[in-house]
Amino acid sequence: QTILMIVYPGITGFNALHARSHEPVDLVVEVETSQFLWKVMYPTQDVMTFTELVLPVGQHVRFDITSTDVIHAFWIPAFRGKIDAVPGLVTTVHALPKQTGSFENDSGLRLQCAELCGVGHAGMQIPVRVVELSEFEAWVAENQSR
Ligand code: CUA
Repeated sequence: QTILMIVYPGITGFNALHARSHEPVDLVVEVETSQFLWKVMYPTQDVMTFTELVLPVGQHVRFDITSTDVIHAFWIPAFRGKIDAVPGLVTTVHALPKQTGSFENDSGLRLQCAELCGVGHAGMQIPVRVVELSEFEAWVAENQSR
């Protein structure tokens, strides 16, 4: 099961899990939305991607979310919960994936826009892959920009 902790505006549920946000963060992922793309950045790892969101299982992830244009909404159906991506503002979501998986075996493992944002709204989605930490580290090594 996957746990989502939401701690900033745009909240849909999971109030009881707010306390989890005070636990140490293992990984920060910056998500920048624009019509109609997800720009996913791992600042500490120096990785950027537009094609998928890769997360290590069992790690406490903090997503820092913003938009370059209109309001979008960050939504991973398998994680539940949604949060707005707002121009000029950073909204924050915490997640702790408890099992590995991918879009191929769970269609809820996708990063989907949940706010009507224009003609490309419905197609504004990328797959999410939750992998073992060692696999994540290998993926990082392959995708580092340096
Ligand atoms: Cu972005 Cu809908």
